[in-house]
Amino acid sequence: MIIFDEINSVFKLDTNTTSYVMGLADGKYLGHIYYGKKLESTDLSYLLRTQEHPFVPSQKPFEKLSFLDSFPMEYPTGAIGDFRESCIDVRDGNGQTGLEPVYAGHRIYEGKDGLDGLPALWGDNCQTLEIALLDSCVGVKLLLSYSVFADCDAVIRSVKAENAGKDAVYLDRVLSACLEMDDEEYEMLSLPGAWSRERHITRQPLHSGSFVTESVRGESSHQDHPFLAAVSKNCTQTAGDVYAMHFVYSGNFLAKAQRNQYGTLRMALGIHPERFCWKLGPGEAFQAPEAVLVYSDEGLGKMTRTLHDLYRGHLIRSGYKGKERPVLINNWEATYFDFDTEKLLSIARESAKLGIEMLVMDDGWFGHRENEYSSLGDWVVNENKLPGGLGYLVDEVNKLGMKFGIWFEPEMISPDSDLYRRHPDWALQLKGRTPSLARGQLVLDLSRPEVVDYVYGCISKILHSANIEYVKWDMNRGVSDIGNTVLPPDRQGEISHRYMLEVYELQERLITEFPDLLLENCSSGGGRFDPGMLYYSPQIWCSDDTDAIERLQIQEGTQLLYPMSTIGAHVSDCPNDTLGRVTPFETRGVVALAGTFGYELDITKISQKERDMVPSQIAAYKKYAPLIREGDYYRIASFRENHLYDCYEIVSKDKTQAAVFFVQVFNEPSVRSRRIRLQGLKENARYEVDGKTYQGGALMYAGLLRERLRGDFQAEVIEVREISG
Ligand code: DGJ
Repeated sequence: MIIFDEINSVFKLDTNTTSYVMGLADGKYLGHIYYGKKLESTDLSYLLRTQEHPFVPSQKPFEKLSFLDSFPMEYPTGAIGDFRESCIDVRDGNGQTGLEPVYAGHRIYEGKDGLDGLPALWGDNCQTLEIALLDSCVGVKLLLSYSVFADCDAVIRSVKAENAGKDAVYLDRVLSACLEMDDEEYEMLSLPGAWSRERHITRQPLHSGSFVTESVRGESSHQDHPFLAAVSKNCTQTAGDVYAMHFVYSGNFLAKAQRNQYGTLRMALGIHPERFCWKLGPGEAFQAPEAVLVYSDEGLGKMTRTLHDLYRGHLIRSGYKGKERPVLINNWEATYFDFDTEKLLSIARESAKLGIEMLVMDDGWFGHRENEYSSLGDWVVNENKLPGGLGYLVDEVNKLGMKFGIWFEPEMISPDSDLYRRHPDWALQLKGRTPSLARGQLVLDLSRPEVVDYVYGCISKILHSANIEYVKWDMNRGVSDIGNTVLPPDRQGEISHRYMLEVYELQERLITEFPDLLLENCSSGGGRFDPGMLYYSPQIWCSDDTDAIERLQIQEGTQLLYPMSTIGAHVSDCPNDTLGRVTPFETRGVVALAGTFGYELDITKISQKERDMVPSQIAAYKKYAPLIREGDYYRIASFRENHLYDCYEIVSKDKTQAAVFFVQVFNEPSVRSRRIRLQGLKENARYEVDGKTYQGGALMYAGLLRERLRGDFQAEVIEVREISG
């Protein structure tokens, strides 16, 4: 899978259908040669273009500046002649920046090492290439790492920077991955959004200059997503080139594409350099998070399926990933803060009768929290609301045959809390300034070990106090006022990343001590839905917007990268709390099937007619759960593009069955039936749909006819089954 061709000084990493190629120029500079369809040949060093004549004002061939500013550097550094985007900036003891790392060796080994304290792809059947680069002037060594799995068309990259010198240096920037390519007028595909509008797929041409998607909010964020793809102009779901970069990290990120004077494109991804500075003492090292690269020559669909397989097979660790998740009911939209034991039990009793399997008690059970403005940090049960404590409540829920889950927001502190009154310095803050409140709360300084221990102790104590089988880990504000009273001035720039490392550490402790716990991450909806969090929790709450129609676009953007089994999706009440829209209960059920199915409403208050539909919705979830968990995803049509209907399909790996999810958002008088072209079936097999048989090829290329449904906001699931014999 990975080879080094000594004669040509070329490294080649192969996956099933792609090759990633680098080469050494002059035995020193590591250049990017090629990423694309699989190649046999390694005789590719001519693509480094080292013999081409330089550009003015350089007159002599190989004047260094001219070379550095045009060479397709695999891991570019700034300040000494490459004026394009740099991946690393190291400031030395003289306050000067400049790095010229040159090849200093490599090793290829079986398997892949984990990253200390960071989420990382894992698995056997894998090879890793490590290339060492050294700048002997400052004494900084870079270890570029590349891994490929035998069963996935992806390249996993990361970078470690070591201070091999005698004096301390400062990392002002250390990105994780870069791609260089000849620009063929790619479009930039990214996933911007907002609260309740997460991950909307957006494409735009990059004519000149740069395209940036980024977060400096201390979380991967609602507003942008740590993902960027260059796609060929006419790229569709089934055709065209895609070069995708996805960051396995949950904090600040920068993803940038830059089109330069020579008509080449540089794409870089990593921790955002803004408000980042990491001090490296002699002998110390900094490990940057991993980036996943995917190339597809068969459009976006193939990229999606590659990422889904990669994350299911090599990122998510939870035992739940291969198991059916309990159908849950969450009380947030049902009660908000206004609940007590009796109210929760009334919801549980009704839920149990209908086949719902777990009650999740959301925000408001601790301290004296009656609204957003108090008690975060005081993780003690409010016995006024819950007389008899958690023990009684959980026992009663268990007696109904249901599991019990609980909500926490461990990273936060309310100024109105006993914790804050005891430790006002535990909140992140800048010297002499009052920190900014958001949702009435401040952010805990997780870079202090005593804070982390306190928080963990609280969670662990609560989980030991009753039979709690699920935790929703929430995080409801961006991280501002990034300063603390313990780190020295030249380490204040480390706080954002240290914060993220501690969040990871906390979750690692949690799933280690409670290995059977089902952990669901959340951040004001989907503000921290990223591969980093998936390493710890097999599912993430997708969005606070539970309106079935809004969810179509949010879930489409999320499904573009993430398996459906990771996407928290619930049926909520109508009129919808965010939008006021009314959609049929059936439609809400079909849309929520595209994720970890559950309910978020007061089941005692909905109509009898709706209650009666719950058992059949649960039966549908159970029927499709294995397909949704393990199958291949195909996007057939997008409401985002056609403004009329949405359609996606899941096909079992052996192609013997499929489920097609069709949502007719608007009815049209002039359309009596719609042709749906399925994907991913066996061309020559025969399939049954609604009692009729079709050839796979006919369903895929000619299509299936669906009569229009009556009314707007209608939905159905179409079952496709191979007929044996
Ligand atoms: C934001 C989450 O997204 C909601 O589901 C809910 O848990 C609230 N926080 C509680 O404060």
